[in-house]
Amino acid sequence: MTIDQPATRPANPRFSSGPCAKPPVFSLDKLSGAALGRSHRAKIGKDKLKAAIEMTREVLGVPADYRIGIVPASDTGAVEMAMWSLLGARPATMVAWESFGAGWVTDAVKQLKIQAEVKTAEYGQIVDFAEVDFNTDVVFTWNGTTSGVRVPNGDLIPADREGLTICDATSAAFAQDLPWDKLDVTTFSWQKVMGGEAAHGMLILSPRAVERLESYTPAWPLPKIFRLTKGGKLIEGIFVGETINTPSMLAVEDYLLALDWAQAIGGLPALMARADANAQAIFDFCAERDWIDNLAEDPATRSNTSVCLKFTDDRITDGAAFAKAVAKRLEAEGVALDIGAYRDAPAGLRIWCGATVETADIEAMLPWLDWAFHAEIEAQAQAA
Ligand SMILES: Cc1ncc(COP(=O)(O)O)c(C=O)c1O
Repeated sequence: MTIDQPATRPANPRFSSGPCAKPPVFSLDKLSGAALGRSHRAKIGKDKLKAAIEMTREVLGVPADYRIGIVPASDTGAVEMAMWSLLGARPATMVAWESFGAGWVTDAVKQLKIQAEVKTAEYGQIVDFAEVDFNTDVVFTWNGTTSGVRVPNGDLIPADREGLTICDATSAAFAQDLPWDKLDVTTFSWQKVMGGEAAHGMLILSPRAVERLESYTPAWPLPKIFRLTKGGKLIEGIFVGETINTPSMLAVEDYLLALDWAQAIGGLPALMARADANAQAIFDFCAERDWIDNLAEDPATRSNTSVCLKFTDDRITDGAAFAKAVAKRLEAEGVALDIGAYRDAPAGLRIWCGATVETADIEAMLPWLDWAFHAEIEAQAQAA
């Protein structure tokens, strides 16, 4: 069965999982107030960096006694900095159910060589937090960007844990409710849910994380860009905008624009509602068809940002080639860009549904997915 091409196209076909679509209000000329050509240590630069920290706190509802810092090397920089600075003081549990979490496991086990229990689950599944010992330091990813499987809530993380929780929340922050009392270190980057620019990481520390930093010195050397303490004391300047090295003031301006937009539309609840509506449109689409399904097995763990889909039609002979061909058709028509599954993930599609994506664009794209699927099934039959 072939079907006609839909009559309408999404106004914005950008559904990449990072860098993600810019906020709907974005235009380059709105960045003209950037402190370009000025020192980031001059008052104008420092004020902007401080504003980025303060607005992040407001929008995310980060408690007043948590530190928020802008650090080098995007989310990876923030996670590595936390692991290198904090791990080793007590045994750790490394938890992973997709590619990025697996990367953090490798670092702890093969690079830092710390005593760690490793708990993993297959793509589509999640590790049961009831089986994790939170008296160890626990490193995990809140939203597995490459599997579309997320932690549903923080209920299984005990409030009275002895270990620290180190959470890579890069594709969750601003779209999912993060329980700050359960998170000692939280990291994210600007180019995900807020549609910002890459290169800068955000590092959020609980008072207990700061206590660890000030009372523990790792056995290994720390490069300058990972150093959060000096003489056994936290470098407080990092958490008021005195960055370790030079940031891009253009990227800072762009992040401020995104935060302004977030506040204007109603803050975190509005951002979460936008991601929820986007993801729901896809969930509904899948529920009405027998050839496509969510990769996440338990509906409670389905991501509302990186929605990962698998084709389930038994006429498909080569799953990876089929998924690639569908994504290619959609890209060629200019109706969905960058929606192939992550390179290490099972074959399929990954459609970003974060807050900067318009639900109308998801809704306009989905009929094209119908079209591309049937066109590809037909092409496969003719090639056979
Ligand atoms: C869960 C997760 N962690 C880490 C990263 C790496 O982020 P960055 O490129 O900002 O360092 C990504 C990127 O997609 C991610 O999804």
